[in-house]
Amino acid sequence: MDINEMKIKLKESLKETRYIHSLNVMEESEKLAMHYNVDTEKAKIAGLLHDCAKNISKKDENELIKKYRIETDDIQRNSSALLHSILGMYIAREEYQVSDEEILNAIYWHTTGRPGMTILEKIIFVADYIEPGRNFEVAEKVRKYVYEDLDKCILLCTDSTIMYLIQKGKLIHPYTLETRNDAVYNLSKKGIL
Ligand SMILES: [Fe+2]
Ligand SMILES: [Fe+2]
Repeated sequence: MDINEMKIKLKESLKETRYIHSLNVMEESEKLAMHYNVDTEKAKIAGLLHDCAKNISKKDENELIKKYRIETDDIQRNSSALLHSILGMYIAREEYQVSDEEILNAIYWHTTGRPGMTILEKIIFVADYIEPGRNFEVAEKVRKYVYEDLDKCILLCTDSTIMYLIQKGKLIHPYTLETRNDAVYNLSKKGIL
């Protein structure tokens, strides 16, 4: 399936605003991939498809978890926000015929991140926060550093997510904390923190 066919299929399965967000993340990811010397085609596909499982009902989520025999923990099972990235990887593979593991991992990890992310994974994670449609305060801050240091951006993004979850009284997935700690380690190794 080429990228234009993917766009047509994706447009049919997402709400208009989510589709526009996906196109924005695709463009942002492409720019970042060029800057950080990462395969731009992979970045475009991962950016385009990262939210391909976003508009799935709770019932369909459960069916897909069974169908693909996906292992989830308690926090993931109860959070559509976390599940959509995991399911997104399976849907990208099964329905969009993506076989590239780097793309699939970038989709899988785009919400929580993980320690030791590849540059492509970091790009999709950050692009999701800063695409032009995002107007929250942290996005503006992250945009200032995005061509300087991705770890600095990841620290800003995870700090903001963690503070938001605390404010809302929601669970924090350990991967989010691990991603944040990894960014701190990386920055201190570089002498930035
Ligand atoms: Fe997402
Ligand atoms: Fe997104």
